Amino acid sequence: MAKVLFAFVVAGVLLVLASSSYVMAADADPIDDFCVADLSSKLIINGLVCVDPATVTGTDFKFTGFEKAGNTSNALGSAVSPGFAGVNYPALNTQGLGFARLDYAKGGLIAPHTHPRATEVLYVVQGTLYVGFVDTNNKFYPTILNKGDLYVFPRGLIHFQLNIANGPAFAIASFNSQNPGLQLVANALFGAQPPIEDGVLVKAFGIPITEVETIKKGF
Ligand SMILES: *[C@@H]1O[C@H](CO)[C@@H](O)[C@H](O)[C@H]1NC(C)=O
Repeated sequence: MAKVLFAFVVAGVLLVLASSSYVMAADADPIDDFCVADLSSKLIINGLVCVDPATVTGTDFKFTGFEKAGNTSNALGSAVSPGFAGVNYPALNTQGLGFARLDYAKGGLIAPHTHPRATEVLYVVQGTLYVGFVDTNNKFYPTILNKGDLYVFPRGLIHFQLNIANGPAFAIASFNSQNPGLQLVANALFGAQPPIEDGVLVKAFGIPITEVETIKKGF
């Protein structure tokens, strides 16, 4: 009897462990070896439709989109080059991964934002970055990254990167989702369409309506 009870307890613990690791996964598990996306298909599923696997070759898995720096001649002095299943890297479909090349001019900023569906790991290829994220208790976790360093931005938390090098910087970001989602904090609040009523932002930020309208003009 004790042995049977023990077996039940072990089975129960294993079941809880198995189901919790499933829940923690960012994307659904693949059910095929691969599913190179057919980017011309208009069919929407939880992911992307696959091309005929018989037509897939080694080159389908190769990606060359990060060879060139992005154009950082813009107000923030930064550029994001995508490496995502649904954009330009169809072999990532169903693999639970996404990538981006991030370029920063001197003083360039990737503004505060979140990825609701992915944890991000950033690898600094060149330059020096001041980075950090804010947790749900509003504790801030800043640090400085140099060439060769990695940093993890936990899933869904607000984060940014600022280039503090005396020249351009670049980094590669990896995500544990093929579609991490991106929400820029300032754009979401001050650039939403249709616009959020000024009164909401006046109260939320404790600033006069004239300032709300000035900030809104920037988006
Ligand atoms: C970079 O972007 C700026 C602003 O849009 C543009 O004027 C410039 O020609 C671009 N440079 C390159 C190399 O594409």
